[in-house]
Amino acid sequence: MKRTDDFSVTAAVPPINPERLHGRLQALGGIGALEGGGVCRLALTDADRAGRDLVLDWMQQLGLEVRIDAIGNVVGTRAGSEGGAPVMMGSHIDTVRTGGIYDGNLGVIAGLEVLQALDDAGVRTRRPLAVAFFTNEEGARFAPDMMGSLVFQGDLALDQALATRGIDGSTVGEELERIGYAGDAPVGAAANPVHAYVELHIEQGPVLEAEGITIGAVEGVQGISWTEFTVTGTSNHAGTTPIRLRHDAGLVAGCVIRFVRDLALELGGDQVATVGSLELRPNLVNVIPNHALFTVDLRNTDGDRLRESEQRLFAYVRELASAEGVEVSHRSLARFEPVRFHPGMVDRVEHIAHELGHSVRRLPSGAGHDAQILARMCPTGMIFVPSAGGISHNVREFTRPEEIIAGVNVLLRVVLELAQTDD
Ligand code: GLV
Ligand code: MN
Ligand code: MN
Repeated sequence: MKRTDDFSVTAAVPPINPERLHGRLQALGGIGALEGGGVCRLALTDADRAGRDLVLDWMQQLGLEVRIDAIGNVVGTRAGSEGGAPVMMGSHIDTVRTGGIYDGNLGVIAGLEVLQALDDAGVRTRRPLAVAFFTNEEGARFAPDMMGSLVFQGDLALDQALATRGIDGSTVGEELERIGYAGDAPVGAAANPVHAYVELHIEQGPVLEAEGITIGAVEGVQGISWTEFTVTGTSNHAGTTPIRLRHDAGLVAGCVIRFVRDLALELGGDQVATVGSLELRPNLVNVIPNHALFTVDLRNTDGDRLRESEQRLFAYVRELASAEGVEVSHRSLARFEPVRFHPGMVDRVEHIAHELGHSVRRLPSGAGHDAQILARMCPTGMIFVPSAGGISHNVREFTRPEEIIAGVNVLLRVVLELAQTDD
């Protein structure tokens, strides 16, 4: 194979192989596949292990130097003609329980395709290149989300992450050991210098498709606040207990669902609010619930507005608990301030998308991403491609093949520039 050590950014950019890329998306999407479409690979389950094994195998076939760290993040590195910190691509391969095949997976598979296209063309970059997949980005089984990247970057202590108990009672540490991905590479930014990080991801929202635009240059990520509430009331007979004498935990949960929708509408702007998980006990038709466990997900691109939504929620829950005569406790599951990506990275994505002849617009991300954590340690950018119908965290998630190819080509060019130039 021909090697061109002095590859210049202006030279022809190696072609990617769409069949190989889509073949890998389908192959990974086949692991944990749900009947009728979509995929379930909750973090650190057997299905996650099988997905990891497949991607690891691809990394090894590419001859990457693979490191697995103590929280199970996997980083495959391709040497550059010079040493130093790599330009990193990546995302996550865990999914929500009813996920699609693109969320996260695309960013990892696209990174591998970029490396393989460079191999095929015999191009070696100055800086090393790396592809990473981070553990438990989704946070659906173990909170917080972005757990692996947080430990990688250093703002979440390894011990605390390993001790995290999930929705099924198991801990991250036990599950990581069980699936064989408790590695020995050190965590924390000092042990993992990264020159720049670029993540290709589906938008997961409706903006690009609605405007007929192919590429999103992501400006940042909105703030995220997750809280779990536990309500303790009194079980009693549904037929005999007068309404005025009830201490109904279920009522509190129901009122909060209504309240957060109204709050989001009142605050307006980017505010969104969701009760996505709710459990009542004893969960029987003729018994007043004595227990409710539910989560509230609040998000806003404006940090002050996000804080206001949290304060209003807590005040409401206190009032409601006292009126109904129930006890309420809460704990924070995840809390992230809004993030703005490096302006030079946003410019670069936008500029390259233009140069490649794609329509492009800047936009914020409504979803959380590992990129928002990597942004704490290096210049970071994200490239979005459209989501059909704005649908994600749903088995019907879909992005058209030509849009995926456009996104991967933008990724390839962005990464080549970052790997070849001094800035
Ligand atoms: C994680 O992907 C989230 O945005 O909930
Ligand atoms: Mn994702
Ligand atoms: Mn997701």
